[in-house]
Amino acid sequence: MSYTADDCARCRADFPALGAMRGGAPIAFLDGPGGSQVPLAVIRAIENVYANCNVNTGGAFAPSREVGRRLHEARGAVATLLGAAGPETISFGQNMTTLCFSLAHAIGRTLEAGDAIVITELDHEANRGPWLMLRERGVVVREVRLRQDGRLDLDDLAAKLDARVKLVAIGASSNALGTVNDLALVRRLSAAVGALMVVDAVHYAPHFPIDVQALGTDFLLCSAYKFYGPHVGILYSRPGALDRLPTDRLSAQNPAPPYRFETGTLNAAAIHGVRAAIGYIESLGRGANARERIVDAMTGIAAYEHALAADYHRRVAALPGVRLYGPGFDDRARAPTVSITLDGRNAGELAALLDERGLCVWDGDFYAVRVIEVLGLAERGGLLRTGFSLYNTREEVDRLLAALEEITRAPR
Ligand SMILES: Cc1ncc(COP(=O)(O)O)c(C=O)c1O
Repeated sequence: MSYTADDCARCRADFPALGAMRGGAPIAFLDGPGGSQVPLAVIRAIENVYANCNVNTGGAFAPSREVGRRLHEARGAVATLLGAAGPETISFGQNMTTLCFSLAHAIGRTLEAGDAIVITELDHEANRGPWLMLRERGVVVREVRLRQDGRLDLDDLAAKLDARVKLVAIGASSNALGTVNDLALVRRLSAAVGALMVVDAVHYAPHFPIDVQALGTDFLLCSAYKFYGPHVGILYSRPGALDRLPTDRLSAQNPAPPYRFETGTLNAAAIHGVRAAIGYIESLGRGANARERIVDAMTGIAAYEHALAADYHRRVAALPGVRLYGPGFDDRARAPTVSITLDGRNAGELAALLDERGLCVWDGDFYAVRVIEVLGLAERGGLLRTGFSLYNTREEVDRLLAALEEITRAPR
């Protein structure tokens, strides 16, 4: 389907937060890569759990069965979103970072000193720190070089892969630069040396359909608060990948996947909200089944967001003193995330000036610390990052550009 400006106008009415005013104008959330707003359907779903079945799972009474059913359905919805085989491949947790630490901890127990792991300089720290931690166990961590154009050096990746490499951890898309990595290639290269593949899809999942089975990844992590849901982390594990993994778990805990990975009591209300977020996306697409409707909706939304981001990218480049980072928009494989610097201005100072005009954008390193170091921007306050979501409009792009133009012209 195509997702048009009219569709966007209709959807905006579903997001209560978009009605707020700031600086005399409606607040513009251009901070999607940091987290998206939620539609009323998600808020209602969370509320519904507290109103009707705010109990633990596994009890022999009706509300307990009901909350268990809802958790199972949420796993099924996430499996459909990710193209996974079924609900048993989906584990929930606090957030992506915590899940990745747990995964690294478990996989680390299966490694020996001298084994190697490959990570990248482009990744968010959440997909670097947990693997770097394994150096304490004698694991060697190799980092794939980030080029100045915002893309990974794939020759360097190929050169770093050999029989000692047991795992490759890579982001699907950069939350700092919008780069989309060639995961099919990384899968081929990592499989050729028998390495596991762990994908951080936190920044990718809100913007592109995912098919974990077609990709053949062993693990994939994402976070529902980036795709119109609440703060819940998601781990996909290939069938069989979790079965014998020595996860942190209690002896009383169910050792079967996906529970093998889940410690303590889950946030059932939020997880029911995840299901509602996926249902919301599905409601925007057409097709014979839920998967088709989700893929259709994501494809339409992606094209809409891409057009907004490409327009902003082209026009912001024309402002004096603006520098752009990351790949260009001629390529479809580009997340709708645009990062800039303005000569003579610190990114934090700019973000504060935009806030006064009701424009929410992020500044800094966004935990993609290595990216900012490689680009030499650490001393300058990092980047000013704008991200586009399904509820953003052409008028918001115009407002942002007008504000930046005014700031560049203002005497200091
Ligand atoms: C690319 C990427 N990976 C990982 C994370 C961490 O996700 P979480 O906040 O769920 O731990 C983020 C958060 O911004 C991110 O953008």
